[in-house]
Amino acid sequence: MGSFRFLTAGESHGPGLTIVVEGMPAGVPISEEHIAVDLRRRQGGYGRGGRMLIEEDYAYITAGVTRGVTTGAPIALTIENKDYANWKDKVPPPITVPRPGHADLSGALKYQLDDMRLVLERSSARETTSRVAAAGIAKALLGELGVHVAGHVVAIGGVQAPVSTLPWAELFDRAEESEVRCEDTEASRRMIERIDEAKANRDTLGGVVEIVAWGLAPGVGSFVHWDRKLDGRLAGAVMSINAIKGVEIGDGFGAAARPGTQVQDAIRMREGRLIRATNRAGGTEGGVTNGEPIVVRAAMKPISTTLTPQPSVDVKTGLETVMEYQRSDICAVPAAAVVVEAMVAIVLADTYLEKFAGDNIAETRANMEHFLSSIGWTALV
Ligand SMILES: Cc1cc2nc3c(=O)[nH]c(=O)nc-3n(C[C@H](O)[C@H](O)[C@H](O)COP(=O)(O)O)c2cc1C
Repeated sequence: MGSFRFLTAGESHGPGLTIVVEGMPAGVPISEEHIAVDLRRRQGGYGRGGRMLIEEDYAYITAGVTRGVTTGAPIALTIENKDYANWKDKVPPPITVPRPGHADLSGALKYQLDDMRLVLERSSARETTSRVAAAGIAKALLGELGVHVAGHVVAIGGVQAPVSTLPWAELFDRAEESEVRCEDTEASRRMIERIDEAKANRDTLGGVVEIVAWGLAPGVGSFVHWDRKLDGRLAGAVMSINAIKGVEIGDGFGAAARPGTQVQDAIRMREGRLIRATNRAGGTEGGVTNGEPIVVRAAMKPISTTLTPQPSVDVKTGLETVMEYQRSDICAVPAAAVVVEAMVAIVLADTYLEKFAGDNIAETRANMEHFLSSIGWTALV
């Protein structure tokens, strides 16, 4: 909506990526090292291709942060593309055979371009690096307000992790120890096996990631207009990520198969406090937070570029052929968990600032605390 906004620029094999974040209150400590942690998380994961061995993503803050603290001015970040050194003196041949499952054909038609390289340079998931950097700023804001956001992998190529009963913080710590960002050791092992099989078969895999935000205030978001609804904004932001083809909140698609009495979260009173017996709704009702953790799941399709050639047409000659293989990941689901986590954090930062506003974080925090005390809310954490 525009309380926390960001824009990104940059090509996959250009000199670098540029990010501008606008709307942050003054007084929030920000460190490049902190942002680098998530950038490294996005680069890793079993099944990645060669590009991630070349890059060492690090976002330099060039505006809006002085002596490690936000000033209220727009924040600018830049990330170098180390791969640029390998490309800058080359004039690669134009790409005229579009890869199915990419923006190549639709983008070339739209912009009337003869060389599809110009499309793939910007449509590449390299852009998601910028989103993770912007989310580093959003997470710093949310951290000041007691909100945590984390993501993990729950399925890869049909291998499903069992539902965990661990507390969120412990679950996410364990997931970070896994090469596939999955908390369950046995499921991780099977997912890795499945990725190896896909590679041997010259194929690729997708999967499902789950993001949880906890420590939330109720009343964030709105039900009064379609574009102010938090669930809609989360779904839109998550669906905008490359290769994400499905989004659900709470029980989502599973709820569609159950009777109404089995999908609600009973409202109860415990020691003078309103509580919910379950969290099937995934933290939002009517597009507004209800104080329970937000739970968002996203389905990632398998990587489009496969070592097995796929049918396409050389649009220059009009002849049927097969797509050209571009260096690629076999599975990027563990990385996608970090990108989905980033978009959830950005939407929450935006809606939090909309609700609690403030030009300085002390003002934002005071507004939040005043609201919570006026509704008699005690934090759930
Ligand atoms: C973290 C991440 C890494 C990706 N890596 C690749 C890749 O190496 N090769 C590829 O073909 N697609 C990759 N993709 C997916 C494509 O960027 C995406 O499918 C393509 O841009 C078309 O967009 P769409 O699938 O959303 O329609 C990746 C996506 C993400 C989120």
